[in-house]
Amino acid sequence: MQNTYVCPRFKLNNGNIMPAIGAGCWLGSAGEDEHVTAMVETALDLGYRHIDTVGFNSSSGNEESVGRALKKTSIPRVDIFLTTKLDQKDHSRVLEALDTSLAKLGVEYVDLYLMHWPMAFNESDRTLQPGESPTFVETWKEMEKLLATGKAKAIGVSNFSVQTLSVLLAQATVVPAVNQVELHPCLPQHDLLAFCAERGILLTAYTPLGKHKFADDPTIRSIAEAHGPETTLAQVLLSWGVQRGTAVIPKSLDPSRLRQNLRLIELNASEMDALNSLHKKPGMHRSMCSFHSQTLGGSCFGWTYKQLGWEMIAGGIHL
Ligand SMILES: NC(=O)c1ccc[n+]([C@@H]2O[C@H](COP(=O)([O-])OP(=O)(O)OC[C@H]3O[C@@H](n4cnc5c(N)ncnc54)[C@H](OP(=O)(O)O)[C@@H]3O)[C@@H](O)[C@H]2O)c1
Repeated sequence: MQNTYVCPRFKLNNGNIMPAIGAGCWLGSAGEDEHVTAMVETALDLGYRHIDTVGFNSSSGNEESVGRALKKTSIPRVDIFLTTKLDQKDHSRVLEALDTSLAKLGVEYVDLYLMHWPMAFNESDRTLQPGESPTFVETWKEMEKLLATGKAKAIGVSNFSVQTLSVLLAQATVVPAVNQVELHPCLPQHDLLAFCAERGILLTAYTPLGKHKFADDPTIRSIAEAHGPETTLAQVLLSWGVQRGTAVIPKSLDPSRLRQNLRLIELNASEMDALNSLHKKPGMHRSMCSFHSQTLGGSCFGWTYKQLGWEMIAGGIHL
C-alpha cells in the first residue's frame, strides 16, 4: 500500500500540529487485540498519522494492541500524533496512569493526554459526585504538571460541556488543547464549538459517522450524490466535521473504508447549512452512543445530564 495522501491539519494552542483525521481505535469492547493491531498497521500504511486510543484501568483496553502496531512500523514516532486518555478510575493517580499508558504503548510520550470524563470513580467503582475529591479541577491541576515531564506534549479533556469547561477554565493555568466529544449532524453542538473556538480549544469529534446510522437520510444521501457516484455518506460526514473546524476520529476495521475515510470532499455553503440544521428535523437530535443510561432521568456513568451540562433527556435525546 502506498501513502500518497496529505491530511489537513490543525494547530493546537501549544503550537503543535494535529492531523485533522485520526483513526479511532476503540472498537466497543476491550481487548480485541489482533483487530486493533491490524487496523492501526493498515491505517498507518494508508497515510493516517493520528491515532486515538484509550487506557482503561480495569481491562486490557487497547493501548497494548496499538503499541504492537507502533513497534512494527517504520514511520518515525515524531511523525505520528498519538492520543490516549486518563481513565475515570485513575483521577487520583495521574502521573502513574500516564506512565502505565506509555509502557503499554511502548513510547516515551503521547502527543495528547485527555481526561476521558469529568467524573472520577473511586476504588470500588463508585462515581464521585461533583464536589467530591478528586474533582475534575483537582485532576486537571495534576494533569498540568505532566507538561513539565515531557511525557504528554499537550493535555485536554473529553466529554466536557460549556458548563463543565467554564468551571475548569476559571481555575486552570493551562487551557485544554482539545475537548473530545460526540459530534455528528444529529448532535452538532454548535454552541460548544463556538465556545471552544473563542478560547483556543480544538474540538475533536468522536462517533463522527454517527456509527454509520445515517444511511437512510435523504439530505446526506443527496449531498453525496451531488459529488459523484464514488462519494459516500461517510465522506460527506467527515468533510462536514473538518470543514467546520473539528478533528474527526472515525473507526473502521475495513481497509477500504479506512482509505475512503481519509478522502475529504469540499462542501459548498448550502450543503454545510443543510448538514448544520439536520438535527432540527423531528426526532433527529440525539446521541448515537450506547453508554447513556435511563437512570436519574438520563445520565452517563453516574452523573446526570444536568451535572454534565448536557441538554438531554433520558436515552440521550436532546431537549
Ligand atoms: N472520548 C470518548 O468518550 C469516546 C466515546 C466513543 C468513541 N470514541 C472514539 O471515537 C471513535 C469512533 O467512534 P465510533 O466507533 O463510536 O463511531 P463512528 O466512527 O462514527 O462509526 C463507526 C462505525 O461506522 C462504520 N464505518 C466506518 N467507516 C465507514 C464507511 N466509510 N462506510 C460505512 N461504514 C463505516 C464502522 O464499521 P466497520 O468497522 O465495519 O467499517 C463502525 O460500525 C472510537 O473508535 C473511539 O476511539 C471516544
